[in-house]
Amino acid sequence: MDPTLLAYRQAISDAAEFIRRRDPRESSIGLILGTGLGSLAEEIQQPVAMNYSEIPGFPASTVKFHAGRLVSGELAGKAVLAMQGRFHYYEGHSMRQLTLPVRVMHALGIRSLIVTNAVGGMRSTVPPGTIARITDHINLMGDNPLIGPYDPFLGERFIDMSEPYCLRLQALAERAAFKLGLVLTPTVYAAVSGPSFETRAELRMLVTCGADTVGMSVVPEVLVARQLDMKVLGLSVVTDQAMPDQVISVSHEQVNQVANEVGPRFVKLVREIIRTL
Ligand code: HPA
Repeated sequence: MDPTLLAYRQAISDAAEFIRRRDPRESSIGLILGTGLGSLAEEIQQPVAMNYSEIPGFPASTVKFHAGRLVSGELAGKAVLAMQGRFHYYEGHSMRQLTLPVRVMHALGIRSLIVTNAVGGMRSTVPPGTIARITDHINLMGDNPLIGPYDPFLGERFIDMSEPYCLRLQALAERAAFKLGLVLTPTVYAAVSGPSFETRAELRMLVTCGADTVGMSVVPEVLVARQLDMKVLGLSVVTDQAMPDQVISVSHEQVNQVANEVGPRFVKLVREIIRTL
């Protein structure tokens, strides 16, 4: 057997074993908290926090504003395991490395995954401050975490992507938003590698392709989650206007600031979703 495949299997089971030893509580819900949205992890009750750097097999997080730790505990009465900060392709991690935590969550028994991120809004229908539900995505990252020597242990080779974002979870999220008086905007999300933000010509292309929002994450994790048959809910916070026909510059600081401002609304929504899940 390919030694890299064996090493990957080992990394998944070593990390899962480490986490289970630190916190034996079983959780069925996984959370991946994107840029500026990590405050949700502070709401977790009876938390057990583990820095990524101490978890065997985990890559090291390098992005400013990302805490880089795994927090397990209770949210809205449910056991959850949250990634406070994620790994990005633009940090130089391979797709396989950066999606390892999703495989570890699956190994720990997690079957529902809530994936969040900060995105640019490319249409006037998705201004900054919008909370969006991802209905579908376009992978323009130029890579795919399922590429590589095939290992049946990791799941199917050719996976169905007709319902990447679980319709039942989307409906549940809509009901939660309605109950809280929040608007949850349905969006098609385009994922690019970054770390450069898009040129106006690139934005024009993305809009023409049918995308509403653009970001630099989520898709790798969703591909792996679907390979493992996990149910996925994708939520985005629009942090900046990425409009092809207006010259508006964007910075990482701004992305973080707007995500922080939306934070309280976002936390309320995710908490209500988890309560009813
Ligand atoms: N483009 C790409 N990724 C992003 C953006 C953006 O405008 N905003 C937040 N993440």
